[in-house]
Amino acid sequence: MESIYGDKLPELSAVMDRIVSSINELRDRIKNETGSDPVEHCEARIKSEESMREKCRRRGLPENTHSALIEIHDAIGIRVVCAFISDVYSVRDHIKSLPGVEVIEEKDYIKHAKPNGYRSLHLIILIDGKYKAEIQIRTISMDTWAALEHHMRYKKKVGANAKLIESELKRCADELASTDMSMQTIRDMINQEE
Ligand code: GTP
Ligand code: MG
Repeated sequence: MESIYGDKLPELSAVMDRIVSSINELRDRIKNETGSDPVEHCEARIKSEESMREKCRRRGLPENTHSALIEIHDAIGIRVVCAFISDVYSVRDHIKSLPGVEVIEEKDYIKHAKPNGYRSLHLIILIDGKYKAEIQIRTISMDTWAALEHHMRYKKKVGANAKLIESELKRCADELASTDMSMQTIRDMINQEE
């Protein structure tokens, strides 16, 4: 069977590498200026053939290149995990300033957490007017919570304790968020003394 990405895979991965390189340039620049890296780690992937086809079916879209590259916006997915909340916004500003990059949508689940407690800043960008990418920018705490919640997602929804499990997960998310804010305050205090 032909790839759902047609012959666009090489171009898609070149575009993805370009965004990742520019994030690495930002890291180098900030490291030189301040001595600290704003990014803990960065992951990038092209959605697998199988998950892209599954997502098309789930959305009721035909399994073709147009659906994969235009209708669905996370063929390219980049996750940037930062130490501090302020770094999340620095990375966002940097991405917005890149030549050839247009932000189509910004979802700030940090200022407005999802009801389950999920927090992250999501950008949907259009690169060179052609390729879409979903960029998730979050702190280490937010990333930890999302990873653990993802582990439990398929098992937790049933049973007598479902409501309790949901509210406990939400409580953990809120506690982590409060710690993030304290850590930010501590860092701001340290920076002021310098
Ligand atoms: P899809 O979920 O991709 O169909 O898109 P959407 O339009 O619902 O966008 P949304 O911003 O809600 O989610 C996009 C991505 O963010 C998801 O694919 C996940 O990677 C992540 N995400 C969103 N909500 C949650 C959540 O509650 N828990 C976890 N672990 N990840 C989430
Ligand atoms: Mg979703």
